[in-house]
Amino acid sequence: MSQRINYRFVISSLIATYLLVFSGSLVYAADINKLVKVCTDCHGENGNSKIINSPSIAGMSTEYFAETMQEYKDKTRPAEKLKNKKKTMKDVVKKLSDADMVALGEYYTKQKFIPFKQDFDAGKAKAGKKLHRKYCDKCHTEGGSSAEDDAGILAGQPSGYLKYSLGSLASGKREMGEKMAKKFKKMQKKEGDAAIDKLVHYYASQQ
Ligand code: HEC
Ligand code: HEC
Repeated sequence: MSQRINYRFVISSLIATYLLVFSGSLVYAADINKLVKVCTDCHGENGNSKIINSPSIAGMSTEYFAETMQEYKDKTRPAEKLKNKKKTMKDVVKKLSDADMVALGEYYTKQKFIPFKQDFDAGKAKAGKKLHRKYCDKCHTEGGSSAEDDAGILAGQPSGYLKYSLGSLASGKREMGEKMAKKFKKMQKKEGDAAIDKLVHYYASQQ
């Protein structure tokens, strides 16, 4: 064997070792189809929920997605257990690497958000629309349907989830940013407890 071939052999085995060590660990995300399969159980096909108490995650911004996943990981956001399910979001994120979360964010941002088909009270929805315009639309634009605000998607979410998420913000169980808290608390003080219910019907009415 000549010196030259030996040299090539050394280089290629170094590359092979490098790939063996790093593939599937921190550098690469796991297979996206496998990752998504886990989410479909609670968030539906392409991130459009079929469960009234579980949110749709299609179409949200990558920023909001990353932030919210990190909050579950840091345990700064509470995580509810759905009926008949064994895991919460905190259990789900434990099994994900940072690269997995990035890949999932990119995947779900590209999916089309489909509003949940559900009943609502037209009178309450109308009152909720007024409240939304007054206290929320500045940051949750286009009636709470725009992903570009980096503040989640409110319009067309399943009503059980809306009740839960607005309720946990109202009770202080889930923290919110300072600026949102100012408006939210102002609304609670001026409009009373019924405001939350009206908002739920308004967001649910957008189909
Ligand atoms: C066992 C059910 C379950 C599984 C599996 C699951 N989730 Fe969730 N997820 C939930 C529930 C319930 C909530 C809302 C409850 C809460 O925050 O307490 C939620 C909330 C979220 C949110 C925040 C939504 C919002 O509007 O703020 C994101 C993002 C999310 N999940 C992503 C994922 C991804 C990605 C996967 C797959 C890797 C996944 N979830 C798997 C049940 C699940
Ligand atoms: C000053 C800007 C601002 C205002 C005003 C505001 N929000 Fe938010 N909101 C945000 C941001 C930013 C987030 C995302 C970060 C977070 O979760 O704290 C958010 C998140 C939320 C979420 C969580 C979304 C989810 O899927 O879990 C809900 C629900 C919500 N806002 C409802 C409201 C309602 C209702 C009002 C009006 C009473 C309101 N917000 C007013 C900025 C605002």
